[in-house]
Amino acid sequence: MKKIIVAIDGLSSCGKSTMAKDLAQQTGYIYVDTGAMYRAVALFSIQNGWLKQNFIDEENLKKNISHIKISFRTNADGIQETYLNECNVERKIRTLEVANAASRVSTLGFVRQEMVRQQQLMGSEKGIVMDGRDIGTVVFPQAELKIFVTARAEARAMRRMKELQARGEKPDFEKVLANIKERDLRDTTRQESPLIKAKDAILFDNSDITRQEQKKNFLKIFKERIT
Ligand code: DC
Repeated sequence: MKKIIVAIDGLSSCGKSTMAKDLAQQTGYIYVDTGAMYRAVALFSIQNGWLKQNFIDEENLKKNISHIKISFRTNADGIQETYLNECNVERKIRTLEVANAASRVSTLGFVRQEMVRQQQLMGSEKGIVMDGRDIGTVVFPQAELKIFVTARAEARAMRRMKELQARGEKPDFEKVLANIKERDLRDTTRQESPLIKAKDAILFDNSDITRQEQKKNFLKIFKERIT
């Protein structure tokens, strides 16, 4: 059976990673969370003191960008975790602080260039489901299946609240919503690879759909594409 590349793009917390993970699990494809890669770069920058409230030390980050190696490994519970230079950073990259920082470092051209290079290598054999913002437009414009996911900001903030609560945090809804809107604006208006729908992507609003329905829909679309 032919192997394809599945590119899933969309706004923050719109459920694209759930969708991508479900599809990868159903098909035996490799799943790559590219947002986690930008989060890892952000964490690396924070840890080195290169990212402050109103300032990014671009010079130092640029000098060291080729020393950032990001990989994914599956833990004993079958959950994929992100590694930064061989260190498990999965928990550390999922905070609001790192999410915000990721949105800032991802505006830098040299950061994007290096991440795209690593992502293209990961997908060179196909058989991959990759989610992000620029997968169908920049990383794999030739992807055989492209999906562009949206959902209302409030629905996305609610999902993000639940994720943070499950991690023992006590988030404030208004703050989470404001954070999502701020990231939406930055992700869609930045100069370098802004989030836009590829012309040949399937548009999908999942505000009012269950995970099971979504799973079924996408498996059907996937099967149509591989035959
Ligand atoms: O999907 P996420 O929230 O984990 O992504 C974190 C940040 O990284 C987000 O603000 C947008 C950015 N990003 C990007 O610019 N390009 C990608 N392919 C993936 C994420």
